Amino acid sequence: MPRGIWYSCAGRALARAAPFMPTGIVPHSGPRPFDLERVRADFPILTRLVRGKRLVYLDTAASAQKPARVLDAVDRFYREHNANVHRGVYTLSEEATRLYEGARVRVQRFLGARDPREIVFLRGTTEALNLAAFCLSTRWKPDDEIVVSALEHHSNLVPWQLAAERTGARIRVIPLNADHSLDLDAFDRLLNERTQVVAVSHVSNALGCVAPLREISERAHAVGALVVVDGAQAAPHLPIRVAELGCDMYAFSGHKCYGPTGIGVLYGRLELMQSLPPYQGGGEMIRSVSFERSTYADPPHRFEAGTPDISGAVGLGEAIDYLESWDRDSARAYERALLEYAIERLSTVDGVRVLAGGEEPAAVLSCVLKGIHPHDAATILDQDGIAVRAGHHCAQPLMELLGVPATLRMSLGLYSGRDDVDAFVVGLRKVREWLG
Ligand code: ALA
Repeated sequence: MPRGIWYSCAGRALARAAPFMPTGIVPHSGPRPFDLERVRADFPILTRLVRGKRLVYLDTAASAQKPARVLDAVDRFYREHNANVHRGVYTLSEEATRLYEGARVRVQRFLGARDPREIVFLRGTTEALNLAAFCLSTRWKPDDEIVVSALEHHSNLVPWQLAAERTGARIRVIPLNADHSLDLDAFDRLLNERTQVVAVSHVSNALGCVAPLREISERAHAVGALVVVDGAQAAPHLPIRVAELGCDMYAFSGHKCYGPTGIGVLYGRLELMQSLPPYQGGGEMIRSVSFERSTYADPPHRFEAGTPDISGAVGLGEAIDYLESWDRDSARAYERALLEYAIERLSTVDGVRVLAGGEEPAAVLSCVLKGIHPHDAATILDQDGIAVRAGHHCAQPLMELLGVPATLRMSLGLYSGRDDVDAFVVGLRKVREWLG
């Protein structure tokens, strides 16, 4: 036995759990064709009234509503299986461990990752990107370069800035074309042998632009740079195959994918994750600890210090099962048609300017109203039970580039329908009458 205190580690607890426990992955009968009415029936919150009106929820990009089966899975976990994971040798702990690790396998499949060890559970996309920036920056030298895009959410900019401040690295920014897609010629000119990381969002949270990730990855890899993707707005809408997209790391949040808040994921290519130092210290991320030194567990547990959000992971696993219970191609086609309908309808409202989101935007539509602040518009819309987001959407540099202080943003979920878009358009007309 080496010196130091040995803790019950994840690997040993899992090995004990495995022979006794089912996997927790319930096979379903295959995806169902998309059906709006049946989707809506799955979301209890959609039956409530807001200010006496039907809830028109058009803020799924901020946080998606939850289907009953996700609520039930979290509730069932606490009622029937609650215990800490990887630590106990008793039945409840083994059940909790198996449910938690089962959720990891669901996420692995959802992302098309090769190995569950490539899936790290964290609080959300923000923490995942902070981990990426912190761990990767331990290799940088002064004058190394990090490339981000002009579309980035603060969570895919500020962590890189913090890491750049610590290391003396520099941030370079991919500019936009007129339709707000990424200017890939300019991107080519930014890449060089000093480029360490290219960090881009798969789908822009403010404009809905979809980044051509495969092309970006090929070009970045050609100069030896790593590709880190903020997938927060993509995971609920697009099928993700991380290997095909060529990204080295991919982050997303549970709560935007119809799962609970407080749980998110960082996918990282296994060889890369194995080469990285820990992000936080504590229980469960170690192999051995003595007063002199510690050694660290293998991924993913190296990056999951402390008690994780077990019920959150269980809820996320259930949300993924729910999402995948619908045929994703037909759901995507439905959302695209609905977004086109929204663009068409909005263009009929005087004084509304829709901000383009590239050729085929995903589920997000921003606009500005002549002479009216988006916050005022959103407040009036709320009087009719219409929930949209107004503000800079945590993308202040993008707003500066667009020359607006803020936008009004509607965003779609599986449960959104033409009736929601119509209510938004009627609401905007009312806003114009009152304030225009
Ligand atoms: N990032 C989330 C949004 O875009 C909160 O609304």
